[in-house]
Amino acid sequence: MTDRSSPTVSDEMPVLGIETSCDETAAAVVVGGRQILSSVVSSQVDIHARYGGVVPEVASRAHVELLTPVIAEALIESGVPDAEIGAVAATHGPGLIGALLVGVATAKALALVWDVPFVAVNHLEAHLHAALLDDPDVELPVVVLLASGGHTLVVAMDAPGSYEVLGGTLDDAAGEAFDKVARYLGLSYPGGPAIDEAATTGDPTAIAFPRSMIDDGLDLSFSGLKTAVINHCRRHPDVVTADVAASFQAAVVDVLVAKALRAAEQTGARGVCLGGGVAANSRLRRVLTEVGEARGLRVSLPTPAMCTDNAAMVAAAGWHRLRTDGPSPLDTGAIPGLGL
Ligand code: KG4
Ligand code: ZN
Repeated sequence: MTDRSSPTVSDEMPVLGIETSCDETAAAVVVGGRQILSSVVSSQVDIHARYGGVVPEVASRAHVELLTPVIAEALIESGVPDAEIGAVAATHGPGLIGALLVGVATAKALALVWDVPFVAVNHLEAHLHAALLDDPDVELPVVVLLASGGHTLVVAMDAPGSYEVLGGTLDDAAGEAFDKVARYLGLSYPGGPAIDEAATTGDPTAIAFPRSMIDDGLDLSFSGLKTAVINHCRRHPDVVTADVAASFQAAVVDVLVAKALRAAEQTGARGVCLGGGVAANSRLRRVLTEVGEARGLRVSLPTPAMCTDNAAMVAAAGWHRLRTDGPSPLDTGAIPGLGL
């Protein structure tokens, strides 16, 4: 009998990935860390929209209800029989504790039943893999700009699994700034796509919002910008919302692009990849591509589906972790504040 609990990690090994760190319930089957056979995402955005943000307890309950059917759909769509799944990977942090526990407990149970390895995956590391999944020809080293609702990081990646955090936000994450400003402007939740949309009819040069720390190292700060938007709207009650949205977005994008390019210059990276929900921002994608390519860098833009939370990136990161570090112990817990 073959020992399924400590198999050779081959290029043909299908890994089931599970993602429940925030408000997306997701499962995916990925072969060899790069070939996506299925990726199912059930978003809870509509459930949380009426509260204007993610309610942790509501998220956990929704994961409990949604995860089993989402996994079943991912397995069926992949065409891989349960008996051929080589490992089960789940996000174990960072994220909401109750939400993480649902995915981690389910992954361990499946790994035990199928007698295959369980792999605990860092959600941020998974986001780094998302860029590589969509652009497998990317040449390392690269700089990854990871900007989501909870994190904003500038990371140098030498190899899958080998990273150095070069900078990060000192206060709000970029997505958090989008969400808070959108809420202040009375736009819909989540705020990033709402501001992106509103900005299409606005003038990005209408208001000169501050570009905090733009000439200063690789760390970022967005709370001053948020305050500047609020102060400007209070002083100018007749201001056009689309102009505020466009000018705010231009300020965020200028800073993000400047940091990514500075990091590439400092590390000698060949390219820049985007990751995280904010990577779906249309202006960020356009400006980074224009400016990055003008400097001879390869700019990798994951598809919007790969920018936001999904389980394909978890399965891919899990396959790489399994190969380098082996299975995770079954007493590995959920860690809400896990860093990269
Ligand atoms: O990575 P993600 O799906 O979840 C985590 O936070 O881990 O990122 C969600 C964040 C939210 O703050 C959302 O407003 C932002 O990504 N976002 C955007 C856009 N689409 C999503 N921000 C700016 N422009 C967008 N088009
Ligand atoms: Zn995320």
